[in-house]
Amino acid sequence: MASVQQLDPGTRRYTQNIVYELARSIRERDIITYEHCRRVAVYVNRLARAMGWSRRAGRDLAQAGLIHDLGKTWLRNDLLHKDSALSLKERTEMERHPGIAARILMTYGAPDAMVEAVLHHHEAYDGCGYPDKLAGEAIPLSARLLTVADVYDALTSDRPYKRAMDDDATRDLMLSMAGTRFDPPVLAAFLRLLDTTPDFRLMPRISPLPLPPAPHPAWVRDDDVFDWWY
Ligand SMILES: [Fe+2]
Repeated sequence: MASVQQLDPGTRRYTQNIVYELARSIRERDIITYEHCRRVAVYVNRLARAMGWSRRAGRDLAQAGLIHDLGKTWLRNDLLHKDSALSLKERTEMERHPGIAARILMTYGAPDAMVEAVLHHHEAYDGCGYPDKLAGEAIPLSARLLTVADVYDALTSDRPYKRAMDDDATRDLMLSMAGTRFDPPVLAAFLRLLDTTPDFRLMPRISPLPLPPAPHPAWVRDDDVFDWWY
């Protein structure tokens, strides 16, 4: 992902302000989506840094992570909060969310690199994703990283229709999707990070289901949330 580093400071600040405002709008519309985006931003930043990206490039990608599901906030309530499997028609409607987000970002003049990361975060390495069925290296690298972080958080957090998976089951399931859903080297870097970072998993601050009674120590592990967060 090209960094917004090349942009002049005014434009860079403008981009950051857009991201804050859009992230706030996600939080006001649906706190569960917002919390998911917040964790994905943290995970994708850690992954980018582990893959040798600069601090600034990691932050830029994290900003994309923070608003990657913005398009969902434009969906109907019954679809956004549905607690069971989606019908084919509903799924088609849900699959519009990356395109909606990209359109909003373009309207605000967000950098192309951010737009493309958000637009392609549901592409799959084997070409079976959406919206453009891109495959392999044709998927922007930023989006390939975002996909891994996104799926990891989706598996490890409660959803209205399912409980979070445990660490081992999550790892096994993600490994089984190397080369289909995920870019193998990106997944390998993520799993290495997962295996070597204590308390990697960010525990939820809120859940659509009742939270377990005892707080996990990782609940307060927000040390790599950026100083510009709010
Ligand atoms: Fe998404």
